[in-house]
Formats: sequence, structure tokens, C-alpha cells
Amino acid sequence: MRKPFVGGNWKMNLNAAASRTLADDLARAIATDRLDQACDIAIFPPFVYIRHVHNVLRDRSSSVMLGAQDVWPEPSGAFTGEVSAAMLKDCGVSVVLTGHSERRHVIGEGDELINRKTRAALDAGLQVILCIGEKLEERTAGQTDAVNERQLRAGLANVPAGHLNRLTIAYEPVWAIGTGKNATPADAQDAHTKCRAVLASLFGADAAGRIRIQYGGSVKGSNAGELMTQPDIDGGLIGGASLKAEEFLSIVRAAAAAPAKGR
Ligand code: 13P
Repeated sequence: MRKPFVGGNWKMNLNAAASRTLADDLARAIATDRLDQACDIAIFPPFVYIRHVHNVLRDRSSSVMLGAQDVWPEPSGAFTGEVSAAMLKDCGVSVVLTGHSERRHVIGEGDELINRKTRAALDAGLQVILCIGEKLEERTAGQTDAVNERQLRAGLANVPAGHLNRLTIAYEPVWAIGTGKNATPADAQDAHTKCRAVLASLFGADAAGRIRIQYGGSVKGSNAGELMTQPDIDGGLIGGASLKAEEFLSIVRAAAAAPAKGR
């Protein structure tokens, strides 16, 4: 069965004190309500607060996974401003995002770099959430499935089957991110089914049936229930709503309460 997985992507928000407070509030509530029994949970602070959040999670012996929003594919060297997978591991990180739409479309990362980052992080033993999703003009032009397929095939090129147990996909339609608009549960389910079919053609049906596919884009406590009960939605990647403990926790609760999925 696929255990749901909810990630809180804090993006470039908060400061050191607010990062500590938010991590502490989440760790405490998740332990008290034993939410981690039915749902994996990760938070992705800005790089500079990773250490602060690490210390909070360590002090609470929390099961919440520490994530990073990005990674550079080379192990070390003259890459000013960048951070390697080994450095992230050294700071207690266990999961990284690759291919986030803001890195693709605001910062200009292409499929080839995203593939290198994905492979480097997996090779280093980290978990990876590979983010994919179409822009509004691509959706309007009927290219949603083709864009998702291209981003999956390119992002996962030469990923060994042995690493797939550390891979999650996040389908985040770009037009739904931070806009308050989200895909209908049926549209999201349809996209997830098609993504799983692409994964099956790459890695076989059994492996594809085990890979979790999160939905992301304006997920909130009020719409999470309907999304999380879809049979191919295995949790969410949450932006704005992950900055408020209660809102994020209500999404985690919705994912934890959803019927079991997979075989
Ligand atoms: P919002 O939840 O703010 O739409 O952001 C989604 C996202 O980009 C998570 O990675």
C-alpha cells in the first residue's frame, strides 16, 4: 500500500525564529495526535534555516522529515551559491525537491539539469520529490498529458530501478500554484492516472503502483479532503498553507484519514 506523504514547501518565507516556532508546533501536534502513523510528513525550510529546524526536530525526536528545496548535482567544487547532496545530508536533510515549477519557470532550469539533480540526490541516498506540471497555456492547448509525460521521462532518465523506493512525484499544475485555483479532484485524479501510466511504461506496473504521486497547487484544509480521497492522489505538496501550523495539520489529517491506496 502507498502511505500518504504530505510536504510543506516553505519557499522563501519566514525567518529563523518563525521557522523554529512552526517546526516546533508541527512536531508537537504530529506526535500528540500520532499523525505520522498514517502519513509521512516533511517540511522544506529555506536553506539558511535548515539547521535551526533540524535542531527543533532532533530535540523533539520528531518523525517529521527535514527537506531541502533544491540541490546541486555536483558533489563539491566551484559552484558559487550552490549546495550539494552531501552537504544537505550533513545537515540532517533526508528529502529534496527537484523540478519545482518556480525553479523551472522563474529561475529557468531545464529538464536536463533537473534530471542531473534528481539522479545526484538519489545516488547520495536522499529521497527525492520530482515536481512536474503544465502551465496554463499548455493546459489550454490540450498539452497537459504531453507536458507531464515529457517532464517525467526527462526527469527520470537513467534513474536505476533500485532507487525508486526513494522517489515521489508531485503533480503541481503551474496555474494552480499560489493562485487560489486548483484542479478539480477529478482533473487531478485524471492527471495522476496518466502519470502513473507513464511510470509503468518506464519501470513496470508493479514499481509504478508503489510510487507516490502528490498533488500540489492551492491545497488548503478546506479542499484537501476531496483531493486526498482520490485513488491516485497520495498526499500533497503544500506551499502557502504550510506556513500556518493549523492549516497544514488539517491537510495532514485529511491525507491520514483517506482510504488506503495501492495493492
Ligand atoms: P501553493 O500551495 O501556495 O499553491 O504552492 C504549491 C507549491 O508550489 C508547493 O510546492
